[in-house]
Amino acid sequence: MYTIITPKKILVSLLFVCSPLLKAQDSFEQQINTLLAKMTLEEKVGQMNQYNGFYDATGPAPQGGNAAQKYEHLKKGWVGSMLNVRGVEEVRKIQELVVKESRLGIPMIFGFDVIHGYKTQSPIPLAEAASWDLEAIQKSASIAANEASAVGLNWAFAPMIDISRDARWGRVMEGAGEDPYLGAKVAEARINGFQGDDLSAPNTIAACAKHFVAYGFSEAGREYNTTDIGTNTLFNIALPPFEAAVAADVKTVMNGFNVLNGIPVTGSSYLQRDILKDKWGFEGYVISDWSSIGELVPHGHAENLKQAAEFGAKAGSDMDMESKAYITHLAENVREGKVDEGLVDDAVRRILRVKFELGLFEDPYLYCNEEREKERLFHEDHMQGALEMAKKSMVLLKNDGNLLPLKKDQKGIVVIGDLADDKNSPLGSWRLASDDNTAVSVVEGLQTYTNAFKFVQGPKVFDDDASFLQHVIINTTDSSGMEEAVAAAKMAEVVIMVVGEHGFMSGEARSRTKIDLPGLQHDLLKAVYAVNKNIIMVLMNGRPLTINWEAEYIPTILEAWQLGSQSGNAVAQVLFGDYNPSGKLPMTFPRSVGQVPIYYNHFSTGRAEKEPNVFWSHYADEENSPLYPFGFGLSYSKFRYSDFNLDSSDATQIKVSVKVTNSSTVEGEEVVQLYVNDPYASIVRPVKELKGFKKISLEGGASQTVSFTLTDRELGFYNSKHEWVVEPGKFNVMVGTNSQEGLSGSFERQ
Ligand code: BGC
Repeated sequence: MYTIITPKKILVSLLFVCSPLLKAQDSFEQQINTLLAKMTLEEKVGQMNQYNGFYDATGPAPQGGNAAQKYEHLKKGWVGSMLNVRGVEEVRKIQELVVKESRLGIPMIFGFDVIHGYKTQSPIPLAEAASWDLEAIQKSASIAANEASAVGLNWAFAPMIDISRDARWGRVMEGAGEDPYLGAKVAEARINGFQGDDLSAPNTIAACAKHFVAYGFSEAGREYNTTDIGTNTLFNIALPPFEAAVAADVKTVMNGFNVLNGIPVTGSSYLQRDILKDKWGFEGYVISDWSSIGELVPHGHAENLKQAAEFGAKAGSDMDMESKAYITHLAENVREGKVDEGLVDDAVRRILRVKFELGLFEDPYLYCNEEREKERLFHEDHMQGALEMAKKSMVLLKNDGNLLPLKKDQKGIVVIGDLADDKNSPLGSWRLASDDNTAVSVVEGLQTYTNAFKFVQGPKVFDDDASFLQHVIINTTDSSGMEEAVAAAKMAEVVIMVVGEHGFMSGEARSRTKIDLPGLQHDLLKAVYAVNKNIIMVLMNGRPLTINWEAEYIPTILEAWQLGSQSGNAVAQVLFGDYNPSGKLPMTFPRSVGQVPIYYNHFSTGRAEKEPNVFWSHYADEENSPLYPFGFGLSYSKFRYSDFNLDSSDATQIKVSVKVTNSSTVEGEEVVQLYVNDPYASIVRPVKELKGFKKISLEGGASQTVSFTLTDRELGFYNSKHEWVVEPGKFNVMVGTNSQEGLSGSFERQ
């Protein structure tokens, strides 16, 4: 991994030159106090104001209108942060403007959506979560931080750690799936990757846990919709990843667009002050989501923008992203006695603290190094890291008849699909800084192994101009190309069909009511299957899909998500057996969209058992079970579980172990998963909950005993008073290869 060897510059900013009171050796808190004492109310409010990038900083200063006003605010020190300003030259110019021209020269913090990379794209976060490889995920975030920091950025609006059980919601691509335990572990890994050991190093950046909270529960999966969940789900499912993020010292938290149980989260002091800041001791700052303070008005919570500013500040939303509510009205609210200036001071203190920790006061241009910028973008190490992550992210869903892995000298391969030669879609959604068409396509990846294959596109599925701003246009009528594809398939020994969603079909504002294969892809699969059953289906998607027919008939399915810059290389390595797939689903695949929300850690019902009559909990037209359960994933190896052992002699340290044997001849990795169930409790507990996992590697024929320790941390839950409790009684434990299959036992805890 690349490390910065240049000693950190010890330039003293203008602030220190002008302010003898601020001595470098003073603690940050003393320096913040000194600074706060010098700031006018407007300057304080300015720190709480974040603007979107709005003019070419290297061009002429803007004249007139909104841009000119923002420019003037920068010069006055009335802007604490900017988003979407990036590139060393731009960042330096704007930082200079503020540091040199404003009265106190307080440096700005520059934020950006570094969701799965900057230029070099890693797999989408949902795919990375499928690796269950925390070290790899941490490394991936550190690569993203390394590149982003090289273009002057010092703050990533990531990780998104919203739990979601609804594949209709497009933003599931951005999170770690449905489970709070896995979600918390992935959150920690990503935060550690972004922030590193030393936040003031020029290659680490502040992370942002978002969206606080329950945004992933939007009703009917429709973006920006209401969320309404009980406190049990709030405390035991939605909040835990955020609690873990705070424990991992995340520097910032972003709130959300959603109304939760009647109150917009941006205006909730219960969530932001009582829980986040007071109960958990979060010392960083809360940034609003884009204009979410202003949206308190259309939500029907605040009467106007002025009241929105009042409510936002009182609720503990420390920085206003682009709604201009604070900069326009907060000082006025304070002067009128509506908002206590102490709350403003608290917000500013938090913002300044993070700036100090990032090293920006010591050197406002710490992240502005042209040479580093040139050297880091698309760096070989980053590309290598993205490739490793991409390989680990794939999930083998089906391999009947062992069509995979392909032999290196396999003849008669035909590759079909609009996505097969696509160099754009595999970059995924939320990749604002990436260059279009820079992913390695599947066709290109295969070419590194063999030229003895034929590619036929088949019917066009997606328009080539798909972008982040508009919905992807899908062809549902023009079947030209179908015949040619079927004819080629007929002659083939094996057909690789690359199908799925376009990268821009998931992400923000990309909700779907149907989550099947878009366009004519399903028809194409059926037509090909009619002439050749040797199909390997490579699935590319940003959410779980309903692929029942495919799951029944297509013999081999490889879930390849959107794997980023190195997509095709990673897919080819798995297809040809140079990498043995080891991923497991972080989110349940439904059989029908009518089952959504569907998740493995559901409660039992009073009528869970099948009855001879209809009066039990089920559907008339579909099974209850998922198509593929949470935690599911196959390998080219075969793993056998035996020798389940449970030792509960020490109630504070319950020991659980199993023996895992690789009964094949192929070396492979397995994610051994531990689930717990508390069958009788004051608040009913889920039928099972993930409480541990270990990823192990075994050579063919080898065995390993895998052990877990269960403490109160794994056995407890938040009760109806929102207190963490472990209730005495029976506990069931299962260790297995996915959430539905494993060996189990139970114990009593007093
Ligand atoms: C998204 C955030 C994002 C912000 C800034 C909003 O629309 O919800 O997740 O960080 O925009 O781009």
